[in-house]
Amino acid sequence: MRAPIEDCYHEWAEVYAAIADDRDFAAQVGALESLCAPPGGPRALLDLFAGPAYHAVEAGRRGWLVSAVDASRSMREVALARGFPDAGRYHVCAVPDDLSATLPAEHFDCALVSRYSAGYLGVGDVERLLRELRDLLRPGGVAVFELHDVSAVAGGLHDLGIQARTATLADGTRIECYWPDGRVVWSADDYVVEMPVRIETDHPTSGRSTSRFASVEHIHSAASVRRLAERAGLSVVDEDLRCAFPESTPVILRKG
Ligand SMILES: C[S@@+](CC[C@H](N)C(=O)[O-])C[C@H]1O[C@@H](n2cnc3c(N)ncnc32)[C@H](O)[C@@H]1O
Repeated sequence: MRAPIEDCYHEWAEVYAAIADDRDFAAQVGALESLCAPPGGPRALLDLFAGPAYHAVEAGRRGWLVSAVDASRSMREVALARGFPDAGRYHVCAVPDDLSATLPAEHFDCALVSRYSAGYLGVGDVERLLRELRDLLRPGGVAVFELHDVSAVAGGLHDLGIQARTATLADGTRIECYWPDGRVVWSADDYVVEMPVRIETDHPTSGRSTSRFASVEHIHSAASVRRLAERAGLSVVDEDLRCAFPESTPVILRKG
């Protein structure tokens, strides 16, 4: 029996934060910096689906003014413990439903949807999010969506470098994470997949246990997000960020 992946994000935020801390976040934020001219003060980042807020924490270190949004209260706690600089700027709410009611009236130089998280929204909600972003970005500001490489998902993600990951928590617990853990199952009538996820924990005193989750994700192609963005009034930037965001298809959108 597999629990929904949301249970992992709510109840295992610290474990997620340990296993997903596997990227060059400095290089990724550096790539975002190259897209946003300094506005005359600090650049402002909106880290959406932020989880442990790796990008916001790194951007904060570089002097950006950072805000984060996530549906999970425990992710917020983990982000604060890992150095998110301002508790008042990490908002717990659902994207896109509660975004405009929750965020203060501010404008951002960059909004980031990393690690395939747009997949937690259906097409209609992605379109609503893009319209919200058009209002939230400063003129010239960018939104970066890190999407799946559709051909990699269609191939079962067997070659994904992050399919098997290990980490050790501060209390000595060893974690192994398999994502996907076996066959990716496609819906028959939509671009929706169910990815099995398995997390093995080995605690120094209580021993081993296995938890299984199912991550149900909409597979949005870069082409379809670009089309939705143009309908929402954002323009497509033709720049390749795959050096900084490997194993994915980053899409860059700009408010004119
Ligand atoms: C794959 S994690 C990404 C975390 C982080 N951005 C990263 O790069 O590792 C997805 C995050 O999105 C959050 N999430 C999922 N659906 C959401 C929604 N509709 N609104 C806000 N957050 C959501 C989850 O709680 C989880 O922390």
